[in-house]
Parts: sequence; C-alpha cells; structure tokens
Amino acid sequence: MNLEIIVLAAGHGTRMKSRIPKVLHEIGGKPMLTRVLDTVASIDSSKVHVVVGGESSEVKSRLGDVDVNWVTQTEQRGTGHAVLQALPYMASDAHGLVIYGDCPLASAETLNHCATQARDGIGLVTANMPDPTGFGRIVRDADGALQAIVEQADLTPTQCSISEVNSGIVCAPVAMFRQYLPLLSDENAQGELYLTDLISMAVLDGVPVQAVRCLDHREVLGVNDRVQLAEVERHFQKNQAVELMKRGVHIVDPMRFDCRGSVSAGTDCSIDINAILAGDIELGDNVTIGANCILRDVQIASHTEIRDHTVIEDSTIGQACTIGPFARIRPGSQLADDIRIGNFVEVKNSQLANGVRASHLAYLGDATVGTETNVGAGSITCNFDGKNKHRTIIGDNVFIGSNSSLIAPLTIEAGAAIAAGSSISRKVNADELVIERGELRQLPGGGSRFRKR
Ligand code: UD1
Ligand code: CA
Repeated sequence: MNLEIIVLAAGHGTRMKSRIPKVLHEIGGKPMLTRVLDTVASIDSSKVHVVVGGESSEVKSRLGDVDVNWVTQTEQRGTGHAVLQALPYMASDAHGLVIYGDCPLASAETLNHCATQARDGIGLVTANMPDPTGFGRIVRDADGALQAIVEQADLTPTQCSISEVNSGIVCAPVAMFRQYLPLLSDENAQGELYLTDLISMAVLDGVPVQAVRCLDHREVLGVNDRVQLAEVERHFQKNQAVELMKRGVHIVDPMRFDCRGSVSAGTDCSIDINAILAGDIELGDNVTIGANCILRDVQIASHTEIRDHTVIEDSTIGQACTIGPFARIRPGSQLADDIRIGNFVEVKNSQLANGVRASHLAYLGDATVGTETNVGAGSITCNFDGKNKHRTIIGDNVFIGSNSSLIAPLTIEAGAAIAAGSSISRKVNADELVIERGELRQLPGGGSRFRKR
C-alpha cells in the first residue's frame, strides 16, 4: 500500500485560550505536533503532508528542519476542508491516513492497524471514552454496522449517551477523498465542512468501513483545552515511567515523575518524587536522584547520590559523588569522582578533580580545583570584575578556610592553606599558609554599648 499521511494542524485552538498555536503546546517537553510527526516517522509512508493555517510561520520555525510537505489552509473551514487542501499534492493511487495534530499519544501500531483496515474501503480508529463529551460519536445500526459520525454539537439527546467516539484517525484511498470531500456541506451546528461526514456518505454507497477500536482510550485523547493538555501529559509521563521501570529503574511514584527528554540508566537507579529530567540524561548504575531535583542534559556516573532539591544543568558528574541537598551545578561543570558538594553550594563552568569537598555555602565559578582540595563554608571565587570573567586555578590538597574571597585571576598552588576570612588577590605558592585579616582589637567592657539594658 502506498501510504501518504495528512496531519491536520491548522486550527488555532481557541479553547486553549493562548497566543501560542495549539499544536505547539508541549507534551513531555516537545510540541504536540513534533510528537505526532515522531510517531508518523516510524511508519512506512511515502509522504507526510502537514496542513497549517494562519500561524504557519510560527509552527514551521518552531519545528525546524522536518521532512514534510507544508500545506496552507488559509481559512479554517473545518477538518474536511483541511484535507481538501492536501489532496492536490497526493498520488492518485495512494491511500491517505489522516491524523489530527492535537492527538499526540496515538501509537504507530494503531496507525498501521487503521491503514491495513482501509484495503477495501475506509479504516477508522474509535475508542470507548468514559467521558465522551466533546468527541464525535460513532452511530451504528441495530446490527452494529457503522453508519455515521455525529459531532457533539449536532447530537440528538439519545445519541449523547453513546460512548464510542471518533479518534480522528481515518484512512481511505485518495480517490475516495477526492470523490466525497467536494460534496461536503457546512449545514451543521458549527457551520464547518466536517471530515467525519465522509463516513455516512461512503456507507450510503456501500463502501465498507472498518472500525479499529483502541483498547486504551487514553491513546486517542485529544487536546482541546488546558485540562486535556494536563491529562494527556500525565498519561504520557506515566507511560515513560512504566518504560523505565521495565528497564529496571526504581521510580518511587510514577504519578510524580516528569521526563521532558530522554533517560538512559544502568541497573538499580532510583528516582524519588517530583524530579524533573530534561534533555539527555545518562545515569550509570546505582545512581540515586532525590526528591524535587531538576536535571537537564546531565551525565552521572555510578554510585553517585544527588540529594533532594538539587539543580544540575549541562554538566557531568563522576562516580561516588554526593551532591546536595540544595546544590546548584550550572552549565559547563565537570566533576570527577568522590566529590562532595553540600547545601547551598553553586558551581559554574568549573572542573573539580577527585575528592574535592565544598560542603556548605560556597561559590566556585570559572574554577579549576585540584584533587582532595577542601573549600570551606562561605568561600567564593570572585570571578567577575564588572567587565570580564576570570579563572581561579587551585592545585591539589589545598585548604581554603571559611569565608575566603578568591579574587580572580588567581592561582593557588598545591598544598597551600588559606586562613579563614582572607581576601586573596595574589598568587599563593605551593605549601604556603596565607593569612589576610584586619588586626583583632579587644576592648574590655565594650560589649555593654550594644546591650539594651
Ligand atoms: C474532531 C472530530 C471529532 C473527533 C475529535 C477527536 C471533526 C469534525 N471532528 O473534533 O469527531 O471526535 O476531533 O479528537 O473532524 N483543523 C484544521 N483545519 C480546520 C479545523 C481543524 O487543520 O479547519 C485541525 C485542528 O488543528 C486539529 C484537528 O484538525 O488539530 C481537529 O480539529 P478540532 O477543532 O480540534 O476538532 P474537534 O472538535 O476536536
Ligand atoms: Ca480536537
């Protein structure tokens, strides 16, 4: 079968109450339309047509370089009208498989199944919805044969209780679309040319219509408003969590799991509640991610623990490290093995060698820190002079006392010690002890000046 795909994405999505075109709203961190095109890419088709409307330039620029034929529907006169716009670009001997851009969870298996049902007529994907409100309903005769699709706005009171709904996924020969769609009428409650009216017309002519009933109705949930967007997102996230659990990852609560990218993980990794994983995440074995952590584009080697409330972006973390709670690792950081980064420590664009410790309240920006160096509480690299950023180079086995200001550009050689409270602006040589403090004065009885009584 020569299959061409038509994705309908021209509607603005008024019910979203948004300035953003509906199909650009995201599911799992990607536009809905991208999700649909990713699925479509895995089925065997010769061409993909995407029907876009007034916001076509926004949609095209957001999707970037995709191998599709963009079709413009200047006026949104309904789904039947949208398909009509794509027909001139399609091969006469092809089959057309229509899918709506606001139906991002439909699987490749379901699309393929629909296409195979269209060999001798029309294939149509339906599902039984617990709450069918808003969907077109599948009307069958007394023998159960499919007769028509009736849109929500056009339902008779008795039809309202029908729970079998139209998913919007339909496949038919291009010749059949060409035969019937020009005959569509807009004499209905919404004044639109409904693609769904194809079914009753074809049935009257004796064309066989095969319904593929989707067992999991959530696969064909459509997104018309933000409530449905959130429902579809949850379902998508649960599917991803189940996949990871099947691959051996411990997810404490799949209902509180969010992956907005891709995750690869070794054995016995554990992800606590409300973690957000974005971009490409690679975890070794036995990596533990605490509650409320946010990770974006991060590689973490085996046996490392990321404690609660930690944020890490665009960085690599070595083995057996402990990071957090409440740590922030900003882009461009490479942490080697056995490192300890504690609460309220910020690291940015820095390279930390094995065994570095910064256990509390510190800032390491644009720094290179040697093996086993200890950074005391309250110590910071002063990397910005108001105009430019400068690097701080710290050797192996250095001791940085608490509350030190390291004024970059600066080098502190191996084995040196900086006394607590020092401001260092000159090179420190290997094994030196450096103390830079104001003179301590002790005034007997002076404390009484600060007491109220
Ligand atoms: C549609 C179906 C309904 C089905 C439901 C499934 C019709 C008439 N109704 O209703 O039977 O149960 O989907 O989710 O088909 N679009 C265009 N051009 C237009 C109008 C719409 O490209 O002129 C696109 C939209 O961008 C959207 C899709 O077609 O991606 C569906 O349109 P929408 O208005 O959401 O239809 P529903 O009311 O959900
Ligand atoms: Ca819809």
